[in-house]
Amino acid sequence: MSNSIIIKDKIKKFNKVISVNGDKSISIRWVLFSSLAKGVSTAKNLLISEDVIAAIEAIRKLGIKVKLSKKNCKVYGKGVNGYIYRKKLVINSKNSGTLGRLILGLLINTPYKIKVIGDKSLSKRDFKRVSDPLSRFGATFKLTNYKNLPLTINGSSNLKSFKYFEKKGSAQCKSSVIFGGLRAEGKTYIKAKKSRNHTELLCKYLKLPIRIKKKKKYDLIEVEKVKKIKPLNYKIPSDISSSAFFIVLTALSKNSKMIIKNVNVNPSRMGIIIILKRMGIKISLRNRKIYKGENIADIQIKSSNNIKSIKCPTNLNSGSIDEFLVIFLVAAKAKGISYFNDLAELNQKESPRLLWAQKILNKMGVKNITTRNSIKIFGNPDLKINKKIIIKDYLKDHRVFMTSVIAALSFGGNWQINDKNSIKTSFPDFLKIINELRK
Ligand code: S3P
Repeated sequence: MSNSIIIKDKIKKFNKVISVNGDKSISIRWVLFSSLAKGVSTAKNLLISEDVIAAIEAIRKLGIKVKLSKKNCKVYGKGVNGYIYRKKLVINSKNSGTLGRLILGLLINTPYKIKVIGDKSLSKRDFKRVSDPLSRFGATFKLTNYKNLPLTINGSSNLKSFKYFEKKGSAQCKSSVIFGGLRAEGKTYIKAKKSRNHTELLCKYLKLPIRIKKKKKYDLIEVEKVKKIKPLNYKIPSDISSSAFFIVLTALSKNSKMIIKNVNVNPSRMGIIIILKRMGIKISLRNRKIYKGENIADIQIKSSNNIKSIKCPTNLNSGSIDEFLVIFLVAAKAKGISYFNDLAELNQKESPRLLWAQKILNKMGVKNITTRNSIKIFGNPDLKINKKIIIKDYLKDHRVFMTSVIAALSFGGNWQINDKNSIKTSFPDFLKIINELRK
């Protein structure tokens, strides 16, 4: 079967209630926390995607039994020291930066060298950002080209805590040090620029030794060595990053409406909602509730024919870091010029996404000025595309694929978008939902 998709028609008006797949960040964290628990943890609605399967395979390699069925996933944890470290262990993180970086925090006590590998995209990404802080616990690392995978980690039986300043607003860096702090003697202090806080919320829910003080720009986190973790039964909410594609599709389509059920709307991930509301998109949250410390709601969106440009405040960057590609499509249809600054981190993702935003917008005929860390988009409320556009060679970045599909359905043109299998990493039901909407 072909691995590319052809789209020649804009989507027709729709009014739908949908559910998207489970949250990727929480799914991977659930697998990792459950692997340290003593007893059986069960998850419902776990995201069954390649990234999460890679996490399951990783803990299996460490001697943890996992049973995965369509309905639920069970992890048979053996306690915080339950990993079986063997010689010549290789962990394959595939496409997942979250898995590759977070798990290193848990491996800092391995008595044997463990090799961590990843796919072509992950092997281009920066791992020095986690090996640097984790080596301060006493683990040693050997990286390819001083910063990439494959890497080897050698742990220590004498792990010491330290003070860490996380300046990038990276939840992956922060979380890997929190995991390390759960293994090290003494108190680990983290001053972290604001970023998604699922790891902290899970630590709190599990009553682990963590204290958090929220400051305006930073969080101050204190973690101590943990002795025991109880099993974690969890119903994973839907992913706001997957919802983002449908939020934008609805906003850009004529006379359409959508409700996306049961989405994780953690305030640290709300960037897209705040940004789009400021751009004049009608979005509301309904049936709000709190589940194990996480905010959940149904998201209701209506199409807009009056989209305003935005000078995006940089304090919203971390909270919408995975959503910028689709947000740029909204800016392409806005009245006026939109500005997005301080976004160098976007080029550190599964593909250099700021460069890909520039390429896609250029192909669409949308004027933009892109630098290594910023993009200025000249919006056009009458934007229509009438030409052939081919999207390929983008390191199979799932979000580049899905953004291109949304652009095709929203603006028209004759699109060929390669590597549709890329959706398997984060949002396996993406095309199924698109096909339902196109019926
Ligand atoms: C993630 C954090 C973000 C995000 C990624 C998932 C996480 O990365 O882009 O998709 O689950 O912690 P950074 O921490 O590198 O910003």
